[in-house]
Amino acid sequence: NWTMDDFIDMQIDEIRKEVGDKKVILGLSGGVDSSVTAVLIHKAIGDQLTCIFVDHGLLRKNEADQVMDALSRDLGVNIIKVDAADRFLGKLEGVTDPEQKRKIIGKEFIEVFNEEAKKINDADFLAQGTLYTDVIESGTDTAQTIKSHHNVGGLPKKLGFKLIEPLRKLFKDETRELGEKLGIPHELVWRQPFPGPGLGIRVIGEITPEKLEIVRESDAILREEIKKAGLDEEIWQYFTVLPGIRSVGVMGDGRTYDYAVAIRAVTSIDGMTADFAKIPWDVLQKISVRIVNEVDHVNRILYDVTSKPPSTIEYE
Ligand code: XMP
Repeated sequence: NWTMDDFIDMQIDEIRKEVGDKKVILGLSGGVDSSVTAVLIHKAIGDQLTCIFVDHGLLRKNEADQVMDALSRDLGVNIIKVDAADRFLGKLEGVTDPEQKRKIIGKEFIEVFNEEAKKINDADFLAQGTLYTDVIESGTDTAQTIKSHHNVGGLPKKLGFKLIEPLRKLFKDETRELGEKLGIPHELVWRQPFPGPGLGIRVIGEITPEKLEIVRESDAILREEIKKAGLDEEIWQYFTVLPGIRSVGVMGDGRTYDYAVAIRAVTSIDGMTADFAKIPWDVLQKISVRIVNEVDHVNRILYDVTSKPPSTIEYE
């Protein structure tokens, strides 16, 4: 029966023994698992670890900066951030099919990672934030037959790297506890789940910079208001989606013909089933007014009242 402090000491010991004076690389997604793995390994071997943070341009507002501030600036983790937004958006141009989008984003991610990894001479180890649930569920997750999930976990094992997976005995909540112990800010560690393909699957159909901007800005407002209302830790996931519908509105004396933004918020235990969250009307009203006022090209807000099943949490 170990405590989290014992666990940290044990892992640091083990990582040092295994790695020796060799180099380790790690693909940072901005998510909890890869962030905690990075900080733990950094604590063990310092700058022998290089993290590659591929910013695919589909992250939430300020997300990349938050991760860089917390991990690189404040904790001293060695991170190479690659701004690959143009490259990803280029590959996604004209693509409307959700699975096609996932494939492209996943493939591009690995390519960018590989290109950067090659520049780091003689790295022997690849670190991954694999959790216990990933170990036991791999291949049996039924959600994967509905949507092919892309995670940084699927990074190339072929390149001759030896794998380091220090979280493989931990559950998600233990990983979060570990993250806090290691000095990662509470709000980073307790963030809601965010899919690998990011905002790319929250713009329905073709992804354009304008549509991404709408979903990113509206999502930031929603998150801010949910947090202010103190609902952020009881709702499993809450985000906005751009279904791509435009409709007629009126502003001043003028007619508008602009986008509708949908609010998706669900309560859940594990993401396998979910109920739509009953956000109080006054909170919803505030969110609605703010999005329409502050985000260009939006004149209507929709609230999703379906549970999973029959809907899924994400729209694509
Ligand atoms: P669905 O939409 O299938 O989502 O009800 C269940 C959970 O999985 C997340 N999700 C993904 N995560 N890559 C991921 O890493 C994906 O492609 C993906 N699609 C959905 C979703 O956010 C929810 O937490």
